Amino acid sequence: MKIWTVANQKGGVGKTTTAVSLAGTLALQGKRVLLIDTDPHASLTYYFGIDSEDLEVSVYDIFARGNTMQSEEILQSLCPSNIANLDIMPATMAIATLDRSMGNKTGMGLILKKALAKISEHYDYAILDCPPVLGVLMVNALAASERILVPVQTEFLALKGLDRMMRTMELMQSSQSKQYQYTIIPTMYDKRTNASLEAYKTLQKTYNDKVWPGVIPVDTKFRDASLAQQVPIQFCPRSRGVFAYRALLDYLIEQG
Ligand SMILES: Nc1ncnc2c1ncn2[C@@H]1O[C@H](COP(=O)(O)OP(=O)(O)OP(=O)(O)O)[C@@H](O)[C@H]1O
Ligand SMILES: [Mg+2]
Repeated sequence: MKIWTVANQKGGVGKTTTAVSLAGTLALQGKRVLLIDTDPHASLTYYFGIDSEDLEVSVYDIFARGNTMQSEEILQSLCPSNIANLDIMPATMAIATLDRSMGNKTGMGLILKKALAKISEHYDYAILDCPPVLGVLMVNALAASERILVPVQTEFLALKGLDRMMRTMELMQSSQSKQYQYTIIPTMYDKRTNASLEAYKTLQKTYNDKVWPGVIPVDTKFRDASLAQQVPIQFCPRSRGVFAYRALLDYLIEQG
């Protein structure tokens, strides 16, 4: 199972949209995909029409039970989505308390990694959606994953937020003594505005080959897809946005 994490400490840059778009596309290609929600706001969970207040088991239990859940229990806690091959590990509000209750315990950073290892033969891909906050959940998601996808809105303020995310990754790399493969994804690109163009140029200049050479355009269809609770590739397969995410997926797979 390949594990990819979508992360950026800045909010509203397209993390959840990226996770859902890539996962939906992979699933429609016949890959077995698990989407994991590590955001207490549970946007990804709601995206699939799952009401996190109705859940008996969620990603919270993996943490609260300190990794004692066996693979069968973990698999039973997953929710099917409305398309084949795509399952969801849902989030609940309760995970917001994890930083306070467990943040300082040793070994907390690897809980998710160990839990995913238990179910790794059941999926080809796990894609993790992070909250826009650095805490136990993001640390776990980063530690579990071999590849980090960093969506960045193509506007000036978002670039400043990216600095913080880069420092976080450097810290994680040195504490885990591993090198992340990461890809910066320019999102919400509006070719009619100078701000988008300037931000894109700055990204390219600063991060060179770490930037995906394409862009995800502004596309109102993404919001419509989430309102309809359908993955974009199913809701609007011919939209510009879906086309761009397909190209991104091809690039990521080609990079290995
Ligand atoms: N390329 C795009 N064009 C237009 N709207 C988009 C695009 N990508 C995402 N959106 C919309 O922007 C909003 C924020 O996107 P999303 O929820 O994916 O961001 P996020 O980084 O996950 O936010 P948060 O940090 O709050 O979790 C959503 O309403 C989404 O539908
Ligand atoms: Mg989100």
